[in-house]
Amino acid sequence: MMRTHRPGELRSGDDGTRVTVCGWVAHRRDHGGVVFLDLRDATGLLQVVVDPGVAGLEDVRRVRSEWVLRVSGVVRPRPAGTVNDSMPTGEIELGADSLEVLSESEPPPFPLDERADIDEVLRLRHRYLDLRREPMQRNLRVRAAVNAAVRAAMDAQGFCEIETPMLIASTPEGARDFVVPSRLHPGSFYALPQSPQLFKQLLMVGGFDRYYQIARCLRDEDLRADRQFEFMQLDLEMSFADQADVLAATSVAVLAAAEAVRPGDAPDAVAQITWREAMDRFGSDKPDLRFGMELIDLGEVFAATEFRAFQGAACVKGLCVSGHGESSRNVVDGLVERAKQLGAAGLVWMRVRDVDGVATLESPVVKFLSEPERLGIIDTLGAKVGDLVLLASGSWATTVSVLGQLRLDLGRPPVSEGGLHFVWVVDFPLFEGLGEGGRPSPAHHPFTMPHPDDFDLLDSDPLAVRSQAYDLVLNGWELGSGSVRIHRREVQQRIFALLGIDEDDQQRKFGFLLDAFRFGPPPHAGFAFGIDRLVAILAGEDNIREVIAFPKTQSGTDPLTNAPTPIDPTQLRELGLAMRATPKS
Ligand code: AMO
Repeated sequence: MMRTHRPGELRSGDDGTRVTVCGWVAHRRDHGGVVFLDLRDATGLLQVVVDPGVAGLEDVRRVRSEWVLRVSGVVRPRPAGTVNDSMPTGEIELGADSLEVLSESEPPPFPLDERADIDEVLRLRHRYLDLRREPMQRNLRVRAAVNAAVRAAMDAQGFCEIETPMLIASTPEGARDFVVPSRLHPGSFYALPQSPQLFKQLLMVGGFDRYYQIARCLRDEDLRADRQFEFMQLDLEMSFADQADVLAATSVAVLAAAEAVRPGDAPDAVAQITWREAMDRFGSDKPDLRFGMELIDLGEVFAATEFRAFQGAACVKGLCVSGHGESSRNVVDGLVERAKQLGAAGLVWMRVRDVDGVATLESPVVKFLSEPERLGIIDTLGAKVGDLVLLASGSWATTVSVLGQLRLDLGRPPVSEGGLHFVWVVDFPLFEGLGEGGRPSPAHHPFTMPHPDDFDLLDSDPLAVRSQAYDLVLNGWELGSGSVRIHRREVQQRIFALLGIDEDDQQRKFGFLLDAFRFGPPPHAGFAFGIDRLVAILAGEDNIREVIAFPKTQSGTDPLTNAPTPIDPTQLRELGLAMRATPKS
């Protein structure tokens, strides 16, 4: 046997036990006579002591950081006064009597023992070393626990795990496809799946009434902290089920995952809010419910105002920023600038100050407001002395989104704080706005079922039509989305007509799905949430790269393998491809 124990698992109960452990040298301290080594493996650190004069241990003087050792000896208590409470193995040490060097290491290009600010490209170039660090060990284990909990929850609910292909025809998720040239069919290309969307719907036609998959998805889009080219989804679809069924099944999975890695932190149920209410109160379709600072309607206060900026405005709303009343003029001007960049015509700000024991608004514009308006602002917003009040007006959509962003800028806690606030956002609009030729553009994919109460509005007021589409949000991150799908031909034709997707387009883009739908498609609905995002939040990381073993950089490269790389001219020839010009480096 290579080892009898794992170093990080030994405790004071093991005192007197003879053990053999293996691991990497995390630190080495040579105190003249005695040499101390911290030996590290996946379970943690163990202090190994090589006492002077023990025969056969001369090698220890050569040993350096990250060498791999096999050490035997007897576990013993640390001498009084040297116990280290911050280490799980801090009460004991291993008195070594034999030591074997299993492999040597060059000095690592960055320190592995602390969360130092190491250049990310350097970390990714040597990801195998970065992975030895405690935060990465922890994050990938959190990820594994989330996957296991999700699988167990889906299995327990009777879902069947089915893999779908990676080389497919394009899927309609709205991003750019990664494509793969076909050698056997020169000039033709596979697309890599942006999601298993159409396949899972085919599985419903195929009679698998509860499907799930921890699916790899690929999208060629600009990368951000919460976006990678390749990412994982818990993807699910259910037949003979409605929105409530999907929300319930998904809630079970996501809460089980949270409970598995943050026991006691997850709520018992996921809250629910309509899209309109989320926009109205938080100015976002992914409301961060970890903090208040809600957007408050001031329409009534300013109903008959003489103040030009708010006269006749469709919407006037306010935000009370607690304790920011004495922000410098620079900071306040910065907020006005930010509001303008976000599309607002302007931003009115007021400080709440104590004047003779009364909370009083102070700002260059206060003189234009009536006394009832001033009092109305303080009352409606619940503003206190020391607060900063921000007001915006204009169209409802712009007003809420500008104030919603300022709310986040000013109040959002760091990702690792504030608990876990899951919320379902339901009743999204079916269409996003008017696109080319005044046609509505779909907010989700074109198979999304309209809200049953809004069918009548499809022709008369399409932008008011709600859909049976829903998102799951956690702490202000969009975790996932889904919808009830259209399974009836006449409804689908109506939506295609509204979207201006003609017969040719229908056949080209989703012909195989429409063909399948000629053979008794069951009513069905589904959902997918991003595993990377869920794991990042649960692990307290604000970038999903921290929870992916081998991620791409922000610019889409992999410093470890150097991907993407040019390919061999013979390979290109085999694929029937020729480079037109040298691409920009
Ligand atoms: P959607 O496109 O909203 O829905 O994706 C669902 C979830 O997948 C995650 N996600 C990503 N994560 C990391 N990097 C990316 N580039 C990325 N893109 C998406 C997000 C997102 O909320 N087929 C539909 C679902 C359905 O209707 O059933 C779909 O894929 O967390």
